Amino acid sequence: MTSSRSQHRNTRRIADALGDVLEARVLTPAQATPAVLEQAALVGFGSGIYWMGFDQRLVDCIRPLPDMSGRNAFVFATSGLPEPPFRRYTHRLGLILEDRGFRLAGSFTCRGLDTWGPFKLVGGVSKGRPDAGDVAAAKNFAESMRLIAEDGT
Ligand SMILES: Cc1cc2nc3c(=O)[nH]c(=O)nc-3n(C[C@H](O)[C@H](O)[C@H](O)COP(=O)(O)O)c2cc1C
Repeated sequence: MTSSRSQHRNTRRIADALGDVLEARVLTPAQATPAVLEQAALVGFGSGIYWMGFDQRLVDCIRPLPDMSGRNAFVFATSGLPEPPFRRYTHRLGLILEDRGFRLAGSFTCRGLDTWGPFKLVGGVSKGRPDAGDVAAAKNFAESMRLIAEDGT
């Protein structure tokens, strides 16, 4: 699942790579209804990072979910800058998922071109990201998620 807010579709590129390996559909928050998510043994939740947090629409589609015990989830994000230690947004989203009963299987982050605000003046930060190396790393991560989902561990 990925947010539709994207300017650059950076996270969509990662979501597509994850979806390829996991043979899974990529959904927008609007498509990710409780009825759809209840059918999946493994769900990835991801978006670009905005104002040091995930897209609110992604968070909003998690809160109304029923008890998702027995299902695995993972978190993924692209951001212009690395996650700061004082604002661990991937950890926070993981806690929200665990609160809904998901077992948190892992998280994946990488840089994504950021042309927001003053960064535009210098052509953006994290130019060219996600790149082929990021996509390869995302695919490796997806393989590990696949093993967890198959094992049920
Ligand atoms: C309004 C706005 C706020 C942003 N806030 C942050 C931020 O707090 N931290 C960060 O590292 N990147 C930030 N970024 C950069 C995005 O996280 C980055 O470009 C990301 O790859 C966007 O993913 P997307 O193309 O899938 O939406 C921001 C970008 C925008 C447009």
